[in-house]
Amino acid sequence: MSLEQEIKRRRTFAIISHPDAGKTTLTEKLLLFGGAIHVAGAVKSNKIKKGATSDFMEIERQRGISVATSVMGFEYNDIKVNILDTPGHEDFQEDTFRTLTAVDSVIIVIDCAKGVEAQTRKLMNVCRMRNTPVIVFINKLDRIGKDPFELLDEIEEELKIKTRPLSWPISMGPSFKGVYNMYERNLNLFFSEDKTVVTDDVVKIDDISSPELDTYVGDYAEKLREDVELVEGIYPEFDIDTYRRGELAPVFFGSALNNFGVKELLNCFCDIAPYPQKTVTDAREIDPFEEKLTGFIFKIHANMDPNHRNRIAFLKICSGTFERNKPYFHVGSGKSLRFSSPNAFMASKKEVVDFAYPGDIVGLHDTGNFKIGDTFTEGEKINFKGIPSFSPELFQYIENADPLKFKQLAKGVDQLMDEGVAQLFTLKMNGRKIIGCVGALQFDVIQYRLEHEYTAKCRYEPISLYKACWIESDNKEQLDDFMRRKYTHVALDKHGRNVFLADSPYSLQLAQEKFTDIKFHFTSEF
Ligand code: G4P
Repeated sequence: MSLEQEIKRRRTFAIISHPDAGKTTLTEKLLLFGGAIHVAGAVKSNKIKKGATSDFMEIERQRGISVATSVMGFEYNDIKVNILDTPGHEDFQEDTFRTLTAVDSVIIVIDCAKGVEAQTRKLMNVCRMRNTPVIVFINKLDRIGKDPFELLDEIEEELKIKTRPLSWPISMGPSFKGVYNMYERNLNLFFSEDKTVVTDDVVKIDDISSPELDTYVGDYAEKLREDVELVEGIYPEFDIDTYRRGELAPVFFGSALNNFGVKELLNCFCDIAPYPQKTVTDAREIDPFEEKLTGFIFKIHANMDPNHRNRIAFLKICSGTFERNKPYFHVGSGKSLRFSSPNAFMASKKEVVDFAYPGDIVGLHDTGNFKIGDTFTEGEKINFKGIPSFSPELFQYIENADPLKFKQLAKGVDQLMDEGVAQLFTLKMNGRKIIGCVGALQFDVIQYRLEHEYTAKCRYEPISLYKACWIESDNKEQLDDFMRRKYTHVALDKHGRNVFLADSPYSLQLAQEKFTDIKFHFTSEF
């Protein structure tokens, strides 16, 4: 197969949702309908259950699972589908944001009773920033939820995107019968009681005006015909280009748990979702069809085995063909590196891969040299953009609690920061180190992992800060003045850039008003 054919048959995406909407269940059912697994229940949730915040074994267990499920690839009707997993817990949402830089589209899962929730909104904002094409799956139709038309309005209003239903529910709650496929204009009714497998026990109806429909769904047939007519009247024809520009979200209804609406979603997704697209670097745009390899690391995962404390770096291929044992240029270090056992991820297992193509994710073994955002090429010095760190909102001083393990602590902190677990700031005035996080759970994870992976002990001390923001200015005089006046609140980030640590919204506002030539950035990429 040519490079072009390989690229065009790839669909790399993430499923995102507010916790509990059904992301894990839908992922598993996509694997089931895609033939990647044969019985549902094989994929474990990487969810950290409520109340488990202090249960480190639970965090470790989840981390172990999420290595296996980080990327789930499978072949379906000649399409290579790559699902990138994202953590459900909001304390790890930075991880999710980074994963979104490596996908070409997303599926957002919404609970039909709860509608659009807080995290749905946040994640959609990230998609909008990047114009990522979005498909919505409204889940749990087997329970009584909001009216479908009301849900569509809510999505349009709250997520600020136009919608177009491509499937439609036949009733809901206990009398839910299934979904009409508006994309293919047909209806599959499933009768199997066993929801952990896919069976052939299906009745296919090609025309909803046929009396056959009434035989199977009774009184709901007339309602469906009315609804479909209404939908076709209100919503314009589905336009694939508007969807691919990120301006229109096709909407599917179903019940992932009960296998309803999943196949309709998967088939249409394979048909309409974009194949790997162009990516932006600091020097130029990269076309996936270029012959030479380019790619970047969007995620680093420490190995779970205490005897092999190496890490896996996840490389997203952006152009060209990746080959095992071929030397590639690591832009960060300027070194040429070759990989003898790169991994590909198929469903929930990994295997050594000889070739990989744009859209694929390759797992590289790393002994602590790689950072999130690192770029690989065949010699060109470029850096991929769009992998920002977000301005953290929770801060603590980190102190060494075991004087004999000073080196181990420094190494551990350094590597955990490279993994993107949190951000480290060093106060300019006295060199004290401050950890900044987005979610409180990250502090516990750092302490636990320092102890178990680096035999180092740390202690936290409270510090009252509101926000960290990166500062820059062309006005040297004003910047110098700022540095002098805010001497106690200026730190350096890991890359030596100036960061202002504001202790209240008020002090930040004052600083912004007074120092008009200074730019205050809330993400690290500017
Ligand atoms: P998440 O990854 O988005 O957090 O959600 P997850 O799939 O874990 O689903 C959250 C809960 O919702 C689970 O129940 C799951 O069984 C249920 N669920 C998912 N899809 C459907 C559906 O279509 N209909 C109904 N009625 N429920 C659905 P749980 O009790 O929290 O977990 P579990 O003990 O069943 O695993």
